[in-house]
Amino acid sequence: MLKHKQLQDWIDSVADLCQPENVVICDGSKDEYDRMWRLLMDAGVAKPLNPERRPRSYLVRSDPGDVARVEDKTFICTETKAQAGPNNNWVDPEDMRATLKRLFTGCMQGRTMYVIPFSMGPVGSPIAHIGVEITDSPYVVTSMHIMTRVGQAVIDELGTDGNFVPCIHSVGRPLTDRQQDVPWPCNPENLHISHFPDTREIWSFGSGYGGNALLGKKCFALRIASAMAKDEGWLAEHMLILKITSPQGETRYIAGAFPSACGKTNLAMLIPTIKGWTVETVGDDICWMKFGDDGRLYAINPEAGFFGVAPGTSMDSNKNAMLTLSHDCIFTNVAETEDGDVWWEGMTPEPPAHLVDWQGNDWTPALDTPAAHPNARFTVSASQCPAIADEWEALAGVPISAILFGGRRATVVPLVNEARDWIEGTFFGSIVASEKTAAAAGTIGELRRDPMAMLPFCGYNMADYWSHWLKIGEHEGANLPNIYYVNWFRKDIDGHFMWPGFGENSRVLKWVFERCLGAAEALETPIGNVPTMDAVDFDDLDLSEKDKAELLRVDVDGWLQEIPLIREYYASFGNRIPEALIRQVDLLEARLKEAQQAVA
Ligand code: GTP
Ligand code: SPV
Ligand code: MN
Repeated sequence: MLKHKQLQDWIDSVADLCQPENVVICDGSKDEYDRMWRLLMDAGVAKPLNPERRPRSYLVRSDPGDVARVEDKTFICTETKAQAGPNNNWVDPEDMRATLKRLFTGCMQGRTMYVIPFSMGPVGSPIAHIGVEITDSPYVVTSMHIMTRVGQAVIDELGTDGNFVPCIHSVGRPLTDRQQDVPWPCNPENLHISHFPDTREIWSFGSGYGGNALLGKKCFALRIASAMAKDEGWLAEHMLILKITSPQGETRYIAGAFPSACGKTNLAMLIPTIKGWTVETVGDDICWMKFGDDGRLYAINPEAGFFGVAPGTSMDSNKNAMLTLSHDCIFTNVAETEDGDVWWEGMTPEPPAHLVDWQGNDWTPALDTPAAHPNARFTVSASQCPAIADEWEALAGVPISAILFGGRRATVVPLVNEARDWIEGTFFGSIVASEKTAAAAGTIGELRRDPMAMLPFCGYNMADYWSHWLKIGEHEGANLPNIYYVNWFRKDIDGHFMWPGFGENSRVLKWVFERCLGAAEALETPIGNVPTMDAVDFDDLDLSEKDKAELLRVDVDGWLQEIPLIREYYASFGNRIPEALIRQVDLLEARLKEAQQAVA
């Protein structure tokens, strides 16, 4: 019996509903972790990697139909449809409860129900919050061990009446009558990732994968937390957090929102190519920010690990990630080498001559299918990252000096532009568009609006979210971060990336850092402040003057063509759209037209 009566009652009620064979309260121990792996190996879904190459690491192959987040089966159940907004799939809470009751009744028969008390953020931090995930998946238990802080310390912190977010997960495949289990049980036909922001509850059914099943991550730390943050005056964002130190030893913290698979992990672990600068990692995916007494926004990384995109990760592109992955790591849907190690596209310039692909089939470079799934991921403790900042678990968080917004844009958006104030920055964030990636099911490459990289993760109406951002800007005594719009993904007419990206992004970070100190030149342009050619450190960079100029050019015609699209997008939110943002579009258009006339 737990001392926390409400928690115990809830566990009992879920057990009554799901009818598991037994119930285990997880303690977060190494013993428990190893026990889960023995179960997963016996089930045939996990295999240990060669301990000489990758100690204490595992390869997991999911069901081929359960490989990414599924946005069209992700639901926000608020009292009215308008509260969820056009950015979410809304279902009436009563209807959803009836559906969930049907789906969850008996859904854990023949399985063990694990109860995972976890903290998002260092236990005891005033910025942290606690959740309890109930799951029937041992893979989820191992992943939660790495991605969150699990165990007795959390139960102690809850005391007898502390708040927790209840998170219920089932793979949705009961084992009745000695029925044979499958290696990766799931139930894609009945997939439901349901959120009740008003009562702060999560119910997830049918998937064992990533953001669908590790409920601390997108479901709690973004969808539910964004609703909590709105009510309580803070921010829950899809952002990396990094620490940058200048050659003079000055330090600043920068947060950055980029859509899924658009470079957060890479930027957070970047190794600067410019001399004397260092970057260290605080977080790579999620950032919770609350106001300190000094009016600054203090951020924590609510997670304890990285669930990162494997393809494209190499010693060249992200050495710190590669070193982080050298031991005690889970790899999901990567390819396997002949010597029992892992491989994915982009890890080495040439693929090995023979692999076993992510679905367990023989693979050679002659095949035109990828060896690793494009959304193959690693799961690893953040503490293993050689670039992790000493203060990454600081209870008070770190003060944020700058916020970056960005996406994948082949055209129009320059390398970097700076908002003149918080309102313009909020406006920039609201109009981010990005080409879709493999992180979610759907058409890859399609351009869509992804405001603040939160389109799939905002637990309420996006227009109200923008109002909340504007309200943060009015916080009494606020000392707010500068806001920037960046784009690493501009392409030339041949379709090649114009900007080398990765470590070279440090050149942009340096300009941002210097702007925060009141140094570094900028030109006032219709889209805010853009660096002069001399202000960005392009030293020793193999890039033509023409390309540099093009990367920093304000494409007035291109931006003017965006204006009607922005208006149309805003119009989809009806009259909930904040007046201040409409005014920003008008101002931008007027400035662009003026610039166009000046040239003519
Ligand atoms: P989520 O975990 O899905 O939220 O993704 P993320 O934003 O952390 O993306 P990540 O850093 O894992 O990068 C995803 C893909 O983008 C990888 O294949 C990277 O190699 C690639 N990428 C990252 N940074 C850059 C960059 O600066 N330039 C280019 N061209 N590609 C990049
Ligand atoms: C993302 O899709 O943005 C991720 C991976 O970080 S998942 O946990 O699946 O959401
Ligand atoms: Mn993410």
